[in-house]
Amino acid sequence: MLKNKLVVLGVTGSIAVYKAVEICRLLMKNGARVKVIMTRAAEAFVAPLTFETITGGPVGTRMFGQVRSWDIQHISWAQEADLFLVAPATANVIGKVCQGIADDLLTTSIMAATSPVIFAPAMNREMYNNPIYQDNMEKLAARGYQFVEPGTGYLACGDEGKGRLAEPEEIVDYVIKELTMKKDFSDRKLLITAGPTREPLDPIRFFSNFSSGKMGYALAEAASRRGGQVTLISGPTNLTPPPGIRFIPVNTTLEMQEAVFDEFSRTDLVIKAAAVADYRPANPKKQKIKKEEEFLNVKLTSNPDILLELGKIKKNQILVGFAAETEDLVKNAMEKIKKKNLDFIVANDLTSPGAGFEVDTNLVKVINREGDIREFPLMTKKEVSHKILDVLSEKIKGR
Ligand code: PMT
Repeated sequence: MLKNKLVVLGVTGSIAVYKAVEICRLLMKNGARVKVIMTRAAEAFVAPLTFETITGGPVGTRMFGQVRSWDIQHISWAQEADLFLVAPATANVIGKVCQGIADDLLTTSIMAATSPVIFAPAMNREMYNNPIYQDNMEKLAARGYQFVEPGTGYLACGDEGKGRLAEPEEIVDYVIKELTMKKDFSDRKLLITAGPTREPLDPIRFFSNFSSGKMGYALAEAASRRGGQVTLISGPTNLTPPPGIRFIPVNTTLEMQEAVFDEFSRTDLVIKAAAVADYRPANPKKQKIKKEEEFLNVKLTSNPDILLELGKIKKNQILVGFAAETEDLVKNAMEKIKKKNLDFIVANDLTSPGAGFEVDTNLVKVINREGDIREFPLMTKKEVSHKILDVLSEKIKGR
């Protein structure tokens, strides 16, 4: 799968270094050539000889004065690489790259890399949550550096929480996808909405729905990895926005409408995966509503239909809606395509187990204006996202 691909594996000083040995082995098993660069701190955990033995080649450790039977020309590996993976990546190395510090062979090589650079962070929970680290990660992500999210669980320092290096299989899978992924959305501007909207009843209560944002976030990540410039407008969720995208958080339907309309003229493709509230309380109270009567009547007023409004003003943009239905899936979805002037609709059947709100999987049909249906089996929302993008990719070809 990775034949003729050169992966430079940067290894930094973390107890998770032992997993880097497995990552190196798995990359090679998948056909990649691997060259390893270790920091001084990494050498305190594993000797370079381990990686030399696996790769059958030299391991880069020093910028200057490393006299071995092979010659490392400083940063030449970085320029040959098809992909640069740093695993485990400490807060230290991420901080240095973020600040443009190049004071050893690894940081110098990362700065000189012309290939995609992927960090797989590993650190203590508090370090991971530290706003300084989070800022660094966001800045690097905004510059196109990629991150494989760490896992949650027992950490070597004895804490429980987020910060463990992702599993080697997951990291290698990410690398394989990156190296084999089509970049068919390069230079395309996508606007994706996700999550629920919240409609306040009083200062502490709201109407909402069960959307977790998983579908929209998966789409945003997939489109970004396929080269798209993604803006994700999201209602409140518990998810971390995928790296490398522009993120606009909103609460209410009216806020989502404003954000969407601000972006629309600069957009090639809109995918509306958000579950938008059709109604909101007509007179939200300024003070907390007291429990006085047995019944509480709340008057609702209709919200704007954002997608319908976009359908009226669209020029060359491709509009994709989602339809969450509990009956007559295709019929109702087709009505929405016509009514909202859409190019496609993704219909999810809420009555099927594993489909729709909250779950990690979905079962969808992608339908175009002519009524042609592409039906997909139950799969993860990440996989569904790529299937949807495959269909859209055919549509934008040559545009
Ligand atoms: O977030 P998850 O937990 O992963 O769940 C994913 C999902 C089930 C929310 C998603 O797959 C989905 O189906 N989203 C759309 C749900 C929905 O609101 O469908 P609808 O039939 O009410 O709306 C049709 C389309 O019009 C949608 O694209 C919606 O974003 C849009 N709409 C609806 C109402 C409104 N006032 N403005 C809109 O733009």
